[in-house]
Amino acid sequence: MKTIINIGELVGIVPEGVLRKQGAEMAVTGILQNAWLSIDDGRITGFGPMADCPSGKGEVIDAEGGMVLPAFCDSHTHIVYAGSRDGEFLDKINGLSYEEIAERGGGILNSSDLLARTSEEDLFLQSVARAREMMEKGTGALEIKSGYGLCPEGELKMLRVIRRIRESIPATVRATYLGAHAVGRGYTREEYVRVVIDLLPEAAPLADFIDVFCDEGFFTVEDTERILTAAAPFGLRPKIHANELAVSGGVQAGVRHNALSVDHLERTTDAEIEVLKGTGTMPVMLPGSSFFLGIPLGRAREFISSGLGIALASDYNPGSSPSGDMRFVMALGCIKMRLTPVEALNAVTLNGAYAMGLGEETGSVTPGKRADLILTRPGWTLTKLPYLYQTPFIRSVFLGGEPLT
Ligand code: NIG
Ligand code: FE
Repeated sequence: MKTIINIGELVGIVPEGVLRKQGAEMAVTGILQNAWLSIDDGRITGFGPMADCPSGKGEVIDAEGGMVLPAFCDSHTHIVYAGSRDGEFLDKINGLSYEEIAERGGGILNSSDLLARTSEEDLFLQSVARAREMMEKGTGALEIKSGYGLCPEGELKMLRVIRRIRESIPATVRATYLGAHAVGRGYTREEYVRVVIDLLPEAAPLADFIDVFCDEGFFTVEDTERILTAAAPFGLRPKIHANELAVSGGVQAGVRHNALSVDHLERTTDAEIEVLKGTGTMPVMLPGSSFFLGIPLGRAREFISSGLGIALASDYNPGSSPSGDMRFVMALGCIKMRLTPVEALNAVTLNGAYAMGLGEETGSVTPGKRADLILTRPGWTLTKLPYLYQTPFIRSVFLGGEPLT
């Protein structure tokens, strides 16, 4: 049992049973000034104003006026990768686009070659260090994709590494089989789609979700639907990469297959907004990729004013977003997408949790949920978080009620 007392601002309070925020609800979150919060057995058990603070049993932590908010929920990452692609960073500075780098054999295939040359142990050590960095920056739940193996052995190696990360860290991890991230070397696209499908019996037990990079130059809507149809009997719900490079039809394919999320969405028309209305599919935008690649930002404001919710995620990967800093993602949401701090908070917490199927488990200050919380240094408020977007703000991160050490 722990009680955090003298919380200057307790932020992200959401009633039980609310699993996501949509439309105008995005602008709402519960905030309590001068509060306490109790934790038992890793879960939030209660909170309230300091005037009614129960005489603390167990450990008492004095927040000294710091803010407490839900830990970030990053629903889209590719943190299992080998080495670095800083050579391509120079190509990018010299004017090559993401597509041009990929066409020259760089990009995802470059990471695939590096991964093939890296032992499973080394891949785990490199990748778990990234997970650790993310937790230190306040992330309490994250999704990790395969997709740099691009052959049966490589994909299984990645999924085993994700499993091992899941078992080694206090953050909650969800795994996604993204065999169809690029066509593996030596295969035609048709052959490779077959390889991805044929691997499902071995990949599915290691994964929660299925993903396809449904975009120009990668996989077609038809490929995507074949893979999603084959994955459904294995219980893998889709999370789709769509509309990063072109208006790809991936959003519509995702909705037809009851995707949990459709991600990227840098290039969308009103048709994508229309098709998402009234569905259980969460649109996930990745402003860190837009920032790094210099491509358009998702149309967050239009999505919200159309009644949709959005989640924001880091897309942490070596090619289009080499950062897992969710406070920066939140800041990009506010500065570049014109989200209010409350909308951005909902996008990086509750809606991110929803986009990983964790809406009942984490992502808000709700009794019964895991105590995945950030305690800030004194003086911080929700608005300051994206405003002072580089000032260190974290005093401690609690995951499952325990401080990260
Ligand atoms: O989400 N778009 C496809 N996949 C990643 C990039 C992967 C890479 O370049 O290594 C993304 O941006
Ligand atoms: Fe991605």
